[in-house]
Amino acid sequence: MRQPGIEPGSRRWQRRILTIVLLARILASFKIIYILFDYTNFMTYYDKIAKGYNELYKEEQLNKVKLIIKNLNIKDEKVLDIGCGTAFYSNLFKNYTGIDNSKEMIKGKKECIYGNAENLPFKDKSFDAVICITSIHNFKDVKKAISEMKRVYKNKVAISVLKKAKKFGEIRKLIKENFDVKEIEEEKDVIFIGAK
Ligand SMILES: C[S@@+](CC[C@H](N)C(=O)[O-])C[C@H]1O[C@@H](n2cnc3c(N)ncnc32)[C@H](O)[C@@H]1O
Repeated sequence: MRQPGIEPGSRRWQRRILTIVLLARILASFKIIYILFDYTNFMTYYDKIAKGYNELYKEEQLNKVKLIIKNLNIKDEKVLDIGCGTAFYSNLFKNYTGIDNSKEMIKGKKECIYGNAENLPFKDKSFDAVICITSIHNFKDVKKAISEMKRVYKNKVAISVLKKAKKFGEIRKLIKENFDVKEIEEEKDVIFIGAK
């Protein structure tokens, strides 16, 4: 409906059209900024550092993996690695499955699946061993993650915990309450290891 006094083609009409176009452009750019912000917000910290992860941490993590394999005497057992990251060390195991909640970290890894430590998509006792290397301090619900580990493993467990993690004391207490483990002191982690 035309307003009285605004004739199509008049100066007022042109100004009104210009204002509408400008407002539409401003709203569109807000929408683009919102979409970008929302996307980066949705990514986990590990999604963002995934590409450079191996270069930064491969050496120190490999040392922990080797200690675990040696102390748990892992040969051809079915192993679940919770918070597996890039799982660059998966070739050291004969029967390996990794799970991680960062899609970027597990990108291209057929032996790894996307999922949460607090809600493992596996049946009870479906793995001989569970390992968890420098990941547990990142889990939202450590208690639930530990009860999930207990549910899916048969007899071997190794949880490597970053010594400087804020929740270190709380995590150690929960591990000791739930598993019969010894402690191996490593440069940056304490590795809790046990076999039934
Ligand atoms: C420091 S990295 C360790 C990766 C690997 N274990 C290693 O030693 O190289 C921690 C990993 O835990 C994963 N993570 C954090 N919270 C998780 C959760 N709730 N469930 C599964 N994975 C999780 C992160 O995405 C990240 O890949």
